[in-house]
Amino acid sequence: MAQREQWGTRTGFILAAVGSAIGLGNIWRFPYMAYDNGGGAFLIPYFFALLTAGIPIIILEFGIGHKYKGSAPLTYFKIFQKWEWLGWWQVFVSFVISIYYVVIIGWALNYALLALNLGWGDSPGEFFFSDFLALSSGPMELGGIVWPIFLASVVMWFVVWIVLFSGVRRGIELANKIFMPLLFLLLLVMLVRAVTLEGAAEGINYLFKPDFSAIMDYQVWTAAYGQIFFTLSICFAIMITYSSYLPEKSDINNNGLMTALINCGFSMLAGVMVFGVLGYMAQEQGVGLQEVVGAGVGLAFVTIPEAINLLPAAKFFGFLFFICLVFAGMSSMISISEAVCSGLMDKFSWPRKATASILCLVGFVLSLVFMTNGGLFVLDIVDHFINNFGIVLAGLVEVVLLSWFFKLDTVREHANALSDFAIGSWWNFCLKVITPIVLGYMAIANLVGDIRVPYEGYPASALLIFGWCVVVVIIPLSIAMQTIKSNWASDHKA
Ligand code: ALA
Repeated sequence: MAQREQWGTRTGFILAAVGSAIGLGNIWRFPYMAYDNGGGAFLIPYFFALLTAGIPIIILEFGIGHKYKGSAPLTYFKIFQKWEWLGWWQVFVSFVISIYYVVIIGWALNYALLALNLGWGDSPGEFFFSDFLALSSGPMELGGIVWPIFLASVVMWFVVWIVLFSGVRRGIELANKIFMPLLFLLLLVMLVRAVTLEGAAEGINYLFKPDFSAIMDYQVWTAAYGQIFFTLSICFAIMITYSSYLPEKSDINNNGLMTALINCGFSMLAGVMVFGVLGYMAQEQGVGLQEVVGAGVGLAFVTIPEAINLLPAAKFFGFLFFICLVFAGMSSMISISEAVCSGLMDKFSWPRKATASILCLVGFVLSLVFMTNGGLFVLDIVDHFINNFGIVLAGLVEVVLLSWFFKLDTVREHANALSDFAIGSWWNFCLKVITPIVLGYMAIANLVGDIRVPYEGYPASALLIFGWCVVVVIIPLSIAMQTIKSNWASDHKA
């Protein structure tokens, strides 16, 4: 087999892993998740999930990726040949995420340009849904392509293609070395601006003020776990792939801990920044904070533009905010696509350039559906199902198989031998007991919830096609991938 590509430096790897983790999930998703789920009270399950699942799983994935040196399918194959399908399942989850994730970055790019003359006007809500997305009446009415979104998405796919095409060191590592420092710098500028605005303290208090009644609600716990998995890019093939490019002598535990902590620190700062600005807006309009905050997609593309309109130097800060989203999203998008690219390259011994080209082309064609008038609805459905069933179930199967049917200690010993600090048996306990119980519960609760109440009241046919079908079909597809012959069996025995 050809020599596996490698990161140039440890910093290069950490920047890439952090770049993968920090994404739309931190700037767009975290603030509204925290806000919707009890503000400060959400942070308790969030940190519990980080400590008992997030950090243990990131160390586990860094450990197996490094030890077995393969993309997710190859890594699972090397652990136990019959587990290859699990790697493909996670790869398919990544692929599905990539085809809508890129479109959201396309929206952000449009908004960065719109910000230059506050092109969203005086009523950003109306602008976003009617003018920008030109939304149809529902997911079953796709309508036509929305051209500004199409163009921006083409640009984004092009960047992904160039980066993947150029390889691990000259593409992915280089891109992250550019995106990440810029992202931190931009966040810092916006943070200083946000916290020095009048009324900012009220907004920040609102985000962190605990609503303890929320902590007894199981949905808050499942939201926190879901957020941790998404934000750390774990259980969807990425971190296994990235760590497979580490050189022989590489720290595992400390790298894992650092990636997780830098990512969550970034989320907190982004939360402070967003809610500082919203506090200012509430004060300017003389209304309560509840009245200014919109949830979900609306927070970034409706409420933030409304707040930006009121800021001094609005165009400048508007541009900064949306460019931040583009940089953060891009570095994650690259990792999501690399997880797929690497799996295909390993399996079929295809050269990188051809694999990256085919992948981006197919991905682009499939992502057209999200660029239509009905795109937002489809995106909402796919995102809900792939997060609640794709990531959660693939994560559950991963921790159960690796901790109950495989000697977890071989990974711990491997990681400890290489790392600045050693991890103890608490790690096994988190993976063997706590995480499977919570994920198992989550999977059942999500299933019952979605069967009982159709998500967001969408028509059953739309939920069936874009939701259930997508999450179910990728499982037999993964098994089918395992049955395709590769060179692995002979290589592995050799
Ligand atoms: N970890 C990436 C994000 O948070 C996928 O957006």
